[in-house]
Amino acid sequence: MDFVGSHILSVDQFARGDIDRLFAVADALEPFARRDRITRVLQGAILSNMFFEPSTRTRVSFGCAFNRLGGDVRETTEVKASALAKGESLHDTARVLSGYSDVIVMRHPQEGSVAEFASASRVPVINAGDGANEHPSQALLDLYTVRQEIRAQGRGMDGLRIAVVGDLKFGRAVHSLLKLLALFERISVNLVSPPGLEAPPDVVSVLADAGHDIGVHHDLGEGIHHVDILYVTRTQEERFASPEEADRYRGLFRVNEAIYTEHCEPNTVIMHPLPRDSRAQAQELDEDLNANPNLAIFRQTDNGVVVRMALFAMVLDVVDQVQDHARPVTWYTAKRTPAARHL
Ligand code: NCD
Repeated sequence: MDFVGSHILSVDQFARGDIDRLFAVADALEPFARRDRITRVLQGAILSNMFFEPSTRTRVSFGCAFNRLGGDVRETTEVKASALAKGESLHDTARVLSGYSDVIVMRHPQEGSVAEFASASRVPVINAGDGANEHPSQALLDLYTVRQEIRAQGRGMDGLRIAVVGDLKFGRAVHSLLKLLALFERISVNLVSPPGLEAPPDVVSVLADAGHDIGVHHDLGEGIHHVDILYVTRTQEERFASPEEADRYRGLFRVNEAIYTEHCEPNTVIMHPLPRDSRAQAQELDEDLNANPNLAIFRQTDNGVVVRMALFAMVLDVVDQVQDHARPVTWYTAKRTPAARHL
């Protein structure tokens, strides 16, 4: 695909070569994300960051990514703070905002809403999550992290064994990730969920049509055996008809140090898109894993900035200009943790 000027709405847009190009740009931007160097390549550009659903890391990391490239960020974080609350259509909001900004990032509770918004926008729109549908930038940063972790163990992506655990029905990050994984060779995927929260058939068929090995499990221990990556997700309570319905699933699958040690391999990498639900009744990823060196959840969140920087650099066509606007950082910067356990 041509990234320049494109909306990023679904991972369906990407071929494997596109992912390779994006990750090469992300690799080149690492010194800027790590605060070894700064660049002002997007000086004068404005990002409209529109979040009509709760968000911490996606909203802030998109904003930081744009700032780290030298651009400015305007934020709207609630429907009630925008004219959508006065009955304005997505179409009109898109026409207005695209007159003010160079790129728009949008999260919205309705499936397909970001695509509808994008169709009226005059500037590129990036989907930061549309209901239970997709979350492409999360899947890209997850895949970038998988590649980094697996590389650090001296292996490549092809032949990867992954277990995806939890709410696979409503988890948009999982939907996007599973479809991206289908682009690689000989992937073995264990889909581990409570009965009723299985992955949607259209997502599973992308993997099946590409000839990958798919296991469907309703037993946690059985599903997480012999995998390179253990990817755990939260029950998406906001997508259920009522809190009581979500309660039926909460706490059914809990990955903790004991379960991990019993069923996983010594190098199995533990991932989660976050937020993890740390309330007593949930705890799908127990805090007793915090000291486990294979826990990659904060390496994922760090990678959110660099991968989103790469997306902006490609969509706004400044990849070749980044170095022209670069200089070393002169302020105090804290030591950062290595990008992967084995590095
Ligand atoms: C995810 C989301 O919003 O879909 N969070 C995120 O962006 N990192 C996953 C979740 O909320 O469970």
